[in-house]
Amino acid sequence: MSNPPTSPAFVIDRQALQESIELLNDLRARSGCRVLYSIKALPFTPVLKWLKPHVDGFSVSSLFEAQLAFEVVDKKQSIHLTTPGIRPDEITQLSQMCSHISFNSLNQRQTFCSTEHEAVSMGLRVNPKLSFASDERFDPCRLHSKLGVDINTIDAQHIADITGLHIHTVFSQCDYASLLQTLDKLQQQLGEFFTQLQWLNLGGGYLFKDIKEHQDFIQLIRTLRQKYALEVYIEPGKAVIGDALSLVATVIDCFISDAKTIAVLDTSVNHNPEVFEYQRQPEILESNDLGAHQVMLVGSTCLAGDVFGEYPFMHTVKIGDTITFPKVGAYTLVKANRFNGYNYPAIYSDDAGILSCLKRYDYADYRQHWLVD
Ligand SMILES: Cc1ncc(COP(=O)(O)O)c(C=O)c1O
Repeated sequence: MSNPPTSPAFVIDRQALQESIELLNDLRARSGCRVLYSIKALPFTPVLKWLKPHVDGFSVSSLFEAQLAFEVVDKKQSIHLTTPGIRPDEITQLSQMCSHISFNSLNQRQTFCSTEHEAVSMGLRVNPKLSFASDERFDPCRLHSKLGVDINTIDAQHIADITGLHIHTVFSQCDYASLLQTLDKLQQQLGEFFTQLQWLNLGGGYLFKDIKEHQDFIQLIRTLRQKYALEVYIEPGKAVIGDALSLVATVIDCFISDAKTIAVLDTSVNHNPEVFEYQRQPEILESNDLGAHQVMLVGSTCLAGDVFGEYPFMHTVKIGDTITFPKVGAYTLVKANRFNGYNYPAIYSDDAGILSCLKRYDYADYRQHWLVD
């Protein structure tokens, strides 16, 4: 790939996206699952439009996401919503756009599950109370969780007027052990109701491309479909878009600070906020473990902790060098901000080496955000 003319820039690798699509198509063909793209990972409409012919719909978590998905979907496609945040004044509009709504609590179910919205397939998000994440910030089943109805409290009465169940319990899993264990528990405790239901949504959280053997997944979906006549949905986000975007930046200053080489980039952790949020050192393409030149890559904002980390290079880093952060497709651009007044990166697509600019932001966007006339 040649460098985009604008720096910093997000570059969408169409080939990587195509590979995600092909894998999900294959899993769908072999298992019979239905695939939704969870737009919270990256709600960029060119991506939604590229995905649209290949998915059964989109999964959303708010009114705005629902509105954006609704602008893109075909009539026959679904929009599934689950969120702890449904507002009373939104439910009518949501039910005009969403085909499926999974209520996050019994209270929400009671308040919003009404025959008034009969075009919507109403479901319940279940918390299976099985934790797999070591960091509780990523664990929807953590103690005192706000996500879903405790599986131990659900009875026939709660299922009576709903048509589906939703679970989402893991983050970036590279095997299906947690899914199998969770479905075992779900079948043991709620299996008697499954034949009353039409669908089961297994959420996202699995990095399908990083999983070598899919037979367990395929078998599980087939069993759920055959035994209970359920439609089974998955709603991956990161597995679809995670490895398809890179952030390409440029070194704009270099100096020594307390005997370390500091390279200032024309980007910042505000363009990749999870670096700071989770204190994670992101991968870059240009470093080399064998390199003798240690360089601290930092962002260009006033925040002292706007630091990407220290990397080894084969050569000294100099002004004008390119630094590429790969695999930043999920939860990066969507969380980016313009702290310090630094612009958002432009967005390009890379189609077999041909770069096209899809979106560029400028002062007018910044001004529109902040100025009150
Ligand atoms: C309910 C729900 N579904 C799907 C997803 C997508 O998960 P991932 O991007 O890890 O596949 C999330 C992510 O937080 C979620 O909360």
